[in-house]
Amino acid sequence: MPDPTASPESSGPILQVRRADLLAAVARVLDYRPTAEVPHHGRVAALAAAVASRLEGTDPHQVFLAGLVHDVGLLDEQWDLAHPLNLTEQANRPLTRSHPLVGAQMLAEIPSLLGVAEIVLDHHEWTDGHGYPRGKSGEEVPRASQVLRLADTCDFILREQGSPELLALLDAVRSRAGRQVTPEILEAGLDALDQPGFYAQLLAGDDVNLLVQTTARHLAEDHFVTTGAEMTALLELLATLADAHASDHIGHSRRVANLTVMVAMAMGLSAEETAKAKWAALVHDLGMVAVPKTLLNEPRLLSEKELRDVRVRSTRVGEFLGPVEGLEEVTRVAACHSEAFDGSGCPDGLSGQAIPLGARLIAVCDTFDALTSRRPHRAARDTSLALDILIRGSGGMFDPEVVSAAVPVLLINQPADPGLEPAWT
Ligand SMILES: [Fe+2]
Ligand SMILES: [Fe+2]
Ligand SMILES: [Fe+2]
Repeated sequence: MPDPTASPESSGPILQVRRADLLAAVARVLDYRPTAEVPHHGRVAALAAAVASRLEGTDPHQVFLAGLVHDVGLLDEQWDLAHPLNLTEQANRPLTRSHPLVGAQMLAEIPSLLGVAEIVLDHHEWTDGHGYPRGKSGEEVPRASQVLRLADTCDFILREQGSPELLALLDAVRSRAGRQVTPEILEAGLDALDQPGFYAQLLAGDDVNLLVQTTARHLAEDHFVTTGAEMTALLELLATLADAHASDHIGHSRRVANLTVMVAMAMGLSAEETAKAKWAALVHDLGMVAVPKTLLNEPRLLSEKELRDVRVRSTRVGEFLGPVEGLEEVTRVAACHSEAFDGSGCPDGLSGQAIPLGARLIAVCDTFDALTSRRPHRAARDTSLALDILIRGSGGMFDPEVVSAAVPVLLINQPADPGLEPAWT
């Protein structure tokens, strides 16, 4: 099936969105904690950019982007559980040991991030040969990866020691990172930390967020997402993180996005409207990251109140994508995917045409995919039962026009659960 959102290189972008802003959103997802604290990826990115700007031949922009996403390969395993272990323990934990490789693979799927993927691949190598995953040494470790290594180590010293005096921090960095990076890079790091006022900016979450924003404007002002295909790939990265948060959700957001495209085409939407609906579908569950895992993986039916909490929480896409300039419409559509046609949905109780059309499409496709997927408390429903539920919800939960257009499309669609046959067989 042709993908109308994968615009060729020659056609211009539909939206003007900066690549760095989207990667900063990835960092916000990776750094999400119920209690505010200093963001790890944000701090590493800001510090790494400052260090790289002191070195010849190391591109601060690329290093900054790599810092924002350097632990993406841990997926939903939290970096703070994976990293503070000592080096032998890190190297012996399969998930930790493989995360530079997994992260580099995820990033390398996006052609514009190939350079970033290369930096991430070696961010745990040490110049003395004791790092992982490959035990590279000396010059084999790219300088940009060494800069990330240094910034990552500084972040952990700050986490371990609170806010030490600057001199104590410099001493700790010297003794800890001395084996990890070359003397030249260590000196650039110490010089960056010693720059008046800089260290103080690394100590509070709000200051770090501001630093990330100003660094992005300074280094990445003119670096926009260039094609529809790149936008899709970047949002798929966010979709992967959203789906990794709950068991049984793997692939959910992409499937919903693909179904949304099919239904949009069946309804005759323009290529541009279809693209925006697809992008919103990819990030529709981003708010799930803020729902406690224990609740999502409960092997029982959730109570009405719990269910509503999960629904409302899951719509808070804006917490992660709000600051991304140019993506406002997509973010709003995604945030409205739990609104109901009759006004009984959430978060705002919008009804009818007041709900963006993209969100009305996603609501139908999201429900269909959820019904035909297994969940901890129930088996997957077959396609005919799922369609029956959608038809019964027509005019209530769902826009009747969308349901009419969607049913023939969903009827021939492969259900999410591989154990189920499509209804037409
Ligand atoms: Fe890491
Ligand atoms: Fe890290
Ligand atoms: Fe969903």
